[in-house]
Amino acid sequence: MFYSVKKPFPENFLWGASTSAYQVEGAADLDGKGPSIQDLHKPEHISDFSVASDHYHRYKEDVALMKELGLKAYRFSISWSRVFPEGAGKVNEAGLEFYKNLIDELLSAGIEPCVTLYHFDLPLALHENGGWGNRETIDAFERYARLMFETFKGKVKYWLTINEQNIMINHPNAMYPGRVPSQKELYQHNHHMFVASARATAALREIDPEAKIGPAPNIIAVYPKSSLPEDIIAADNWEAIRDWLYLDMAAYGRYNSLAKAYLEEKGYFPEIEEGDMELLAANTADYLGINYYSTATVSAAKNDGHDRAPRNGDQQTMVGEEGVFRAEENPALKATEFGWKIDPVGLRTTLRRVYDRYHLPLLITENGIGGKEEIEADGKVHDRYRIEYLRVHFEQARLALQDGVDLMGYCPWAFIDLVSTHQGYQKRYGFVHVDRGEKDLRTMNRIKKDSFDWYQNLIRENGANL
Ligand code: BG6
Repeated sequence: MFYSVKKPFPENFLWGASTSAYQVEGAADLDGKGPSIQDLHKPEHISDFSVASDHYHRYKEDVALMKELGLKAYRFSISWSRVFPEGAGKVNEAGLEFYKNLIDELLSAGIEPCVTLYHFDLPLALHENGGWGNRETIDAFERYARLMFETFKGKVKYWLTINEQNIMINHPNAMYPGRVPSQKELYQHNHHMFVASARATAALREIDPEAKIGPAPNIIAVYPKSSLPEDIIAADNWEAIRDWLYLDMAAYGRYNSLAKAYLEEKGYFPEIEEGDMELLAANTADYLGINYYSTATVSAAKNDGHDRAPRNGDQQTMVGEEGVFRAEENPALKATEFGWKIDPVGLRTTLRRVYDRYHLPLLITENGIGGKEEIEADGKVHDRYRIEYLRVHFEQARLALQDGVDLMGYCPWAFIDLVSTHQGYQKRYGFVHVDRGEKDLRTMNRIKKDSFDWYQNLIRENGANL
């Protein structure tokens, strides 16, 4: 729809930025932190997580930069195993202290903390005890969530339960050290994560009823390759399995009917204990976090032996699945240097579809572009391509607001360079550059990129000149 007059961003719009604990903190075994599954991940060609961007030691400097940038919100995650080194049991007070200090620092800088409880870094001890396949992990998650809510009551208004549960299920390789579970097992894990989120939601309502909580899945509009009715069915299939399965549960507390039919057909439908569905229906989300990077394009599955479950690669790598869909190229879209399709209008479409289905406030919890970057001869980082990417995406977010979407805020990924899940520091996302290489730590100095100045100005003007 074309609008003749631009509607401004709301005055209380949460101009934010995101990170996650294991990708930015470092200090992986300091001050009593227990290992998470990510600490086992030590690929030869990229950085591990032992130092990352050293945010653990430099958080004050980083928050000062956030303040200078003008952020209204900072979305980050707490490392579960920094607080509970074994995932359950004894609390590590030193670990908790770090988050108390960080949150106080943010609040005194006037920045709203939006806190994710769990972002890909399951405590290793829980993993070794069966991980999400074991219902004891649900109990451990609830205990951990309760401690966080009690500790930060009145300070944290926005909680996020689990980051990209749908990516952990659809692309499990980087999430499971050792053996990758079968599809049947993964959907059992998925169910347990749903139950864990509902238990955390119930706990928050009891402990701090003023605070809000929701999930942060990776949600994308799925396009049919053509107007062939079979392609439309395939797009519906993949959208239900990838997106609505997760959001219907968060918003309505029930299994999406099409995703359920898929799970039953494949023999993946999980075991559900008595009381689970009642708990899920009674503890739905207050708002929905949306991580958006791109859209997907699909056609009808050909069932010619080529299609297989999209288990490998990163979140944007799809192949297809026999009888369900086949992934297709979208020739209308350009791609990043890492091959992710760039689709700003797809962000508007995604926000419209999600809001139309759920009528819950939405927060963009991630969106951004990763690229190779170096400090240039003038000592700066000129990331024009990031400014262009974000500018066109913010424009579409503004249009989605004008379409009637209740968009609370927008937190680009990432505030600062961090370890990208598959490409380490070769793929940088930040407004702030970190002077380190893949393995060589160099000065670790923070350098404001050109996009920092651009975003600072956008925030200052409340998006008026987009
Ligand atoms: C999301 C994750 O999948 O996308 C982040 O929540 C991740 O943890 C981000 O870093 C970008 O993906 P990648 O693979 O480029 O790091």
